[in-house]
Amino acid sequence: MALRYELIKTCSQSQARLGRIHTPHGIIDTPVFMPVGTLATVKTVSPEELKELGSDIILANTYHLFLRPGHEIVQEAGGLHSFMNWDRAILTDSGGFQVFSLSKLRKITEEGVSFRSHLSGESLFISPEKAMEIQNALGADIIMAFDECPPYPAEREYVKESLERTTRWLHRCKQAHRRKEEQALFGIVQGGMYPDLRQESAKQITDVDLPGYAIGGLSVGEPKPLMYEALEETVPLLPPGKPRYLMGVGSPDALVEGVIRGVDMFDCVLPTRIARNGTTMTSQGRVVIRNAAYARDFGPLDPECDCYTCRHYSRAYLRHLIKSDETFGFRLTTIHNLHFLLTLMKRVRQAIQQDRLLDFRREFFESYYGTSE
Ligand code: GUN
Ligand code: ZN
Repeated sequence: MALRYELIKTCSQSQARLGRIHTPHGIIDTPVFMPVGTLATVKTVSPEELKELGSDIILANTYHLFLRPGHEIVQEAGGLHSFMNWDRAILTDSGGFQVFSLSKLRKITEEGVSFRSHLSGESLFISPEKAMEIQNALGADIIMAFDECPPYPAEREYVKESLERTTRWLHRCKQAHRRKEEQALFGIVQGGMYPDLRQESAKQITDVDLPGYAIGGLSVGEPKPLMYEALEETVPLLPPGKPRYLMGVGSPDALVEGVIRGVDMFDCVLPTRIARNGTTMTSQGRVVIRNAAYARDFGPLDPECDCYTCRHYSRAYLRHLIKSDETFGFRLTTIHNLHFLLTLMKRVRQAIQQDRLLDFRREFFESYYGTSE
């Protein structure tokens, strides 16, 4: 088997779990946040820096690497790990989501999705079989089934058709997967915001024996309470002996709320994307470093943070770099934001260990959002 989930402890106050995922490229302590490296790089930071930040696993995207440089070239390089010089675990998303959010003129049929490249305009096609061929060539430790993520809001009838197609595509993915000993295939539960459709999808997806399961179709513009309800309806239907991955979620509140509802894995472009436009996450909440208020602030970005950025540079300097579009500024805010979320997850794991996750939530929300909600 490509992957083994070791359940270490369940929280006495919530559905949270402490665990370890054993992969061919090392052990992942869960709950985990996975930084996004869409194009085989977590923008602006090196693999050495990511290791120093304590990242056990990063995510890359099938859709983008298929378009550029092409999976054949990555395969010739010896796979993603050697291509990008990252020897810890990698997860690739299947392209099912990115085709819908990025490409133009897409058309979905039972066979797959045809679309035009957002780079060249070229006509392309991805089917479940093609998504597996690409991901087998890229060689990530965890690969995702090819799914459809319906928009929010969407008609019930459409969501039902779509989730049933996603199940049929999952069977085709499992059939087409050629490297089961090295790469763990995860299925993705859909069903939009309809509780019964979520249940139907969870049943159909978990009927397929796989090393892990993801919850898709959330964080697509719906209010957060709706996402939490969907999680409460879905997570209990997933098998306790396998990892559970909530796709595309990475705001500090949603990470904590997701863990409390039993989620083990998360990914999101949020910390790295907002870093590059000068928004940072600190122990006292968001700090928009471009603001004039920081022009003469010679203290650290976050006085409670011990990351490289906060140990060596001031708010005034960061503001100057970001306002001047200097690459080094993007690097420094990215390093800090990743440190913040990876440390948050470490503290969440400690809180589960100490049976005080709900107390931790209250303390954290008070300092980050200035509220106990
Ligand atoms: N990333 C965020 N949401 C989704 C989803 O529903 N499916 C896939 N494949 N990726 C996602
Ligand atoms: Zn810092």
